[in-house]
Amino acid sequence: MVALVRSGLFPVAVVFSFVLMSSPSLAADGKALYEAQCQKCHGMDGKGDTKAGKMTKTPDLHTAEWKHGKTAADIAKTLGDKLGKMPSFAEKMTEEERMAVAEYTAGLL
Ligand code: HEC
Repeated sequence: MVALVRSGLFPVAVVFSFVLMSSPSLAADGKALYEAQCQKCHGMDGKGDTKAGKMTKTPDLHTAEWKHGKTAADIAKTLGDKLGKMPSFAEKMTEEERMAVAEYTAGLL
């Protein structure tokens, strides 16, 4: 540690470990949010093959017509609005959380 500070590599090491720690946690958050907020209708695989999914006629995200675009940014925006039987998540999640869960969702496709 002392050697690292003396060599001037200390800031590099700090930034590097921060990057290592922060990127997987974003994906993990998205997954946890998806599990908590989305999977009851969409299912963990996005097929919508759950009891609540059938009741609300949740589309299979793999074959859906994607009315609002399928990039993570599009999905995050969709989640801020009510969409048919899907509630708005504008008050349930922060913008950052909607983006994390949208990235996770886009990754399922
Ligand atoms: C109450 C059930 C329900 C929950 C909970 C739910 N959805 Fe949906 N979702 C739906 C239904 C129903 C539709 C189809 C809406 C329509 O097109 O009328 C849909 C559509 C979508 C679409 C397709 C939008 C498009 O462009 O056509 C995406 C993406 C989506 N949901 C993601 C999510 C994510 C991410 C979550 C969790 C944050 C979530 N949904 C939670 C029921 C749900």
